[in-house]
Amino acid sequence: MAILGSRRRIILIGLFFTLGSCSEQEVVINDNGAPNGKAIYKQNCKVCHGGKGNLGVGDAADLSASKKTFQEKLYIITNGSEGGKMTSYKGVLTEKEIAAVTAHIETLIK
Ligand code: HEC
Repeated sequence: MAILGSRRRIILIGLFFTLGSCSEQEVVINDNGAPNGKAIYKQNCKVCHGGKGNLGVGDAADLSASKKTFQEKLYIITNGSEGGKMTSYKGVLTEKEIAAVTAHIETLIK
């Protein structure tokens, strides 16, 4: 009985972690099927640019002070920066996802 009890506990712990990791993951698609730029940003960009855009990890540009136009940002995200410090997201994110994440970083401008 004791063995069964501990096994059950292990299963419960496993279940807890599985559910825990599910709830952390944010939905990347909105109800209307459009990509959620904020969630995409969190998953792909926050690590260098930070939640507010000004973290600057590895010389990451301050997105909250960017003077670049929507189109210029779209281009950099799609093709990477000229110096190659930021990699291209072509093939990683779809065109629609890149447009959505660009729209999100426009909201970070102070
Ligand atoms: C590995 C770190 C890293 C990640 C991840 C990253 N970036 Fe960058 N980003 C950089 C760096 C470094 C620069 C500066 C590039 C340069 O000066 O050559 C930059 C520059 C930019 C610029 C240009 C801003 C300006 O005003 O010059 C934009 C826009 C941008 N990133 C958006 C994004 C978005 C959106 C994502 C996620 C899809 C992302 N970045 C993910 C490191 C990163």
